[in-house]
Amino acid sequence: MASLTLVLLYLAISSLIFSVVKQVLSWRKTRRLQGRFPGPRLFPIVGRVHDVPRFSPWLKFKEWADEYGPIYYTRALHQPFIIVSGQQIAEELLVKRGDIYSGRPQLRCIINHKEGPAYVALMDRHDTWRTQRKWAHAAVTKAYRHHFYGHVETEMKRYLGLLLLDPALFLDYTREFSGRIMSRLAWDDATQGRANGDSANQTLHCMSASGPLPNTVTPLWHLPGFMNPWYKFEVRRQREQRAWWLNNYRLAKDRMLRGDLPADTWAYRYFEQLRRDGGNESLEQAEDQEVFASCMIGFLNLIGVVPVSGLLKFFLMAMAVHPEWQKKAQARLTAGVMIKKGTIILACEWAMNRVPSTYPDGDNFRPERWLEPGWPTYQEPLTRYPNFREGFGMHTFGWGRRTCLGQNIVDGEVFVFGAATLWAFNLSQKRCPRTGEPVPIDTQATNSHVILEPLPYQINIKVRSEKRGRQVLEGYNEVRTGRY
Ligand code: HEM
Ligand SMILES: *[C@@H]1O[C@H](CO)[C@@H](O)[C@H](O)[C@H]1NC(C)=O
Ligand SMILES: *[C@@H]1O[C@H](CO)[C@@H](O)[C@H](O)[C@H]1NC(C)=O
Ligand SMILES: *[C@@H]1O[C@H](CO)[C@@H](O)[C@H](O)[C@H]1NC(C)=O
Repeated sequence: MASLTLVLLYLAISSLIFSVVKQVLSWRKTRRLQGRFPGPRLFPIVGRVHDVPRFSPWLKFKEWADEYGPIYYTRALHQPFIIVSGQQIAEELLVKRGDIYSGRPQLRCIINHKEGPAYVALMDRHDTWRTQRKWAHAAVTKAYRHHFYGHVETEMKRYLGLLLLDPALFLDYTREFSGRIMSRLAWDDATQGRANGDSANQTLHCMSASGPLPNTVTPLWHLPGFMNPWYKFEVRRQREQRAWWLNNYRLAKDRMLRGDLPADTWAYRYFEQLRRDGGNESLEQAEDQEVFASCMIGFLNLIGVVPVSGLLKFFLMAMAVHPEWQKKAQARLTAGVMIKKGTIILACEWAMNRVPSTYPDGDNFRPERWLEPGWPTYQEPLTRYPNFREGFGMHTFGWGRRTCLGQNIVDGEVFVFGAATLWAFNLSQKRCPRTGEPVPIDTQATNSHVILEPLPYQINIKVRSEKRGRQVLEGYNEVRTGRY
């Protein structure tokens, strides 16, 4: 199969001419690099693209890491790669030498993301990035100090109610849950949560190797406009997304001017600063300033959706597939013992890596690695660990100057979600009505985006008692009004 792909690639040689030219130009540099690092055998021109799958490429990278070690060299067409699979080496390069290694590569199908003003996570390190990161960091920190103003709990009540009323739609509701929290924080408009999730999903598709073809076969991007569907699609997508952000920004501004925008929104925070620091009472801005601010707030609102919903969907799956752990978690919830924030978070495993010395049996769901002494990742006290803010495994949130700004939000959302869902419901695998056998769930199947969600799966969601059902509906009723 791989060799067939190789032959096909060589047959498609005309579209590769561009990359040949680039390669010849960078010939000497490449050869020098190659001399130093181990790595898989590289083929002329294509390097090693033909057997790196567009879906789940990390499986291949891991296979090569097992063979060539924690740092190795490979090349996809003209693009050289160093693949790092060891924590220490990553620390050495991405943190200690972060001055050199904190930029971003061009994602072929996203236009101008290195420059901005949209997509702070994808920008190079320059003033636009610095300004936006600093602002976003302060905004998120303030929200964390106020426990996200109770929005996580409010949305949780709504989520539990919807789960009770229509459990078959749980995947949609889960994405909406994190989307609504972010849009509430951004502009006081949780009703945008669904659009927010859809927009995030589409953006991730366009960013991913598994997405549009030119992300992997980059020369295709240089086809002239009339025969380049990817370019046309992307121009439209970005225009619509930015118009949506700008519209929300202007709506929020109108409300601010009417005195009708809650002070706990990121938009309010921005307008208040504009008045204070800019002395601009009427909040008038040039169009490019509005675009800058709306992209900054819009993207912060967007980026917080899928990492969380992906994690939560895997959590629900893990609970349905591992009833013994569900039982343990539920027993903890009902023991009357005060459960402090951060005590039971079972889902960390899914996001963590698989270095055997740190994560023995890393391919399997073993939450006891966080809960029982003797495991390398175990940390005391259990009233504090594990959590998503500190301790082992935080490399999942990135490195050095570019680390994630959302750890606090994740910690809050995941804890409340896990505890509340298991308090209210029993989750289990569907059973075949004829044989009674559990319907298998492919726990490895994902959408293969840069930020993962599982592919759709089905489970039973059953309320644990009539009383809890009533409590869920009461909670749902409380939050059903107004803008919700
Ligand atoms: C489990 C959930 C999450 C995970 C695993 C995660 C992981 C990451 C990773 C790996 C990066 C890139 C770091 C690097 O390049 O070294 C990142 C960047 C970022 N994340 Fe998250 N994230 C999560 C949730 C969130 C949430 C809820 C927010 C909402 C505020 C958020 C906001 C950001 C921002 C703004 C950046 C860009 C930082 C920069 O480029 O300077 N993340 N995240
Ligand atoms: C996410 O986007 C992909 C690609 O655009 C699409 O096929 C898929 O249906 C979307 N999924 C959801 C849940 O919106
Ligand atoms: C507010 O700022 C805008 C753009 O910078 C400017 O056009 C407008 O005149 C300013 N208004 C006041 C009252 O300063
Ligand atoms: C829920 O699961 C627990 C075990 O975790 C079981 O004892 C209980 O009977 C189940 N309740 C319902 C309503 O299925």
